[in-house]
Amino acid sequence: MSLVADEISATGAQHLASRARTHARTQARIQAGCGLIIALFLVLHLVNFLAAIVGPGAYDSFQSIVRPAYQYPAVEVLVLGAIVVHLIIAGVRLARESRRNLRGRARWHRYAGVFLMLVIVGHVAAVRGPSWFADIYPGAQGLAFTLNAYPGYFYPYYFLLACAGFYHALQGVSVALPRLNALRWRLSQSQLVLATGCFAVLAVLSLAGLGGWLYEIPDPYDNDAARLFQSVFGVGG
Ligand code: HEM
Repeated sequence: MSLVADEISATGAQHLASRARTHARTQARIQAGCGLIIALFLVLHLVNFLAAIVGPGAYDSFQSIVRPAYQYPAVEVLVLGAIVVHLIIAGVRLARESRRNLRGRARWHRYAGVFLMLVIVGHVAAVRGPSWFADIYPGAQGLAFTLNAYPGYFYPYYFLLACAGFYHALQGVSVALPRLNALRWRLSQSQLVLATGCFAVLAVLSLAGLGGWLYEIPDPYDNDAARLFQSVFGVGG
């Protein structure tokens, strides 16, 4: 009798374990799909950031061309929705697998992801809030204000944000495509490190372009984004 009961409970446990595995696989696939949508936006967004190497004017011109695409209401809802779903699943998986010992590129992927999780809501609120609520688009001058008013905070912050976004997206896409059976393509560890290293150098040049180290820039305190920031926070030099 107890043998039969043992068998039934073993079968039940197997069934539960297999359902949990299917559930985890579905979650991972949804997260991968959302990641790919975010990556498409991020390609435009980071190329826009790098355009500042050519000058703040190039940054603004590129942004005025691509902004109507990513701020087209359906596209914006898709991108922001993908970020929310991606974040929720990341939180669930982190809580479930926090003890899993990741190594190498997967570990750095997690570090970059956790950094982005901590800052992304603040980033979107800070840069999109002004255009939603006050019709003010930060643009190169808004970024120049933050870099000049709080250099100790904003240079490292933008640098980490851009590099974490680049690395997380590149490693993420190379995991997501095979997971979705889309493409059997995988970047080698050395290619990933090299690409991120090159991007980091370009990111420094972009920040130098935006901050006024490479080009003449107008007074960074004399623009609508700077005035809005100062009136909201009552600070800013
Ligand atoms: C140095 C790096 C970055 C800088 C300087 C930057 C700056 C900006 C600026 C100025 C905007 C407003 C765009 C506009 O008015 O058209 C913006 C929007 C946004 N950024 Fe970033 N960003 C950076 C990296 C990232 C990264 C890594 C992510 C990660 C996903 C990200 C996600 C977003 C999102 C979701 C929006 C809102 C898009 C929209 O709905 O219009 N950004 N960013």
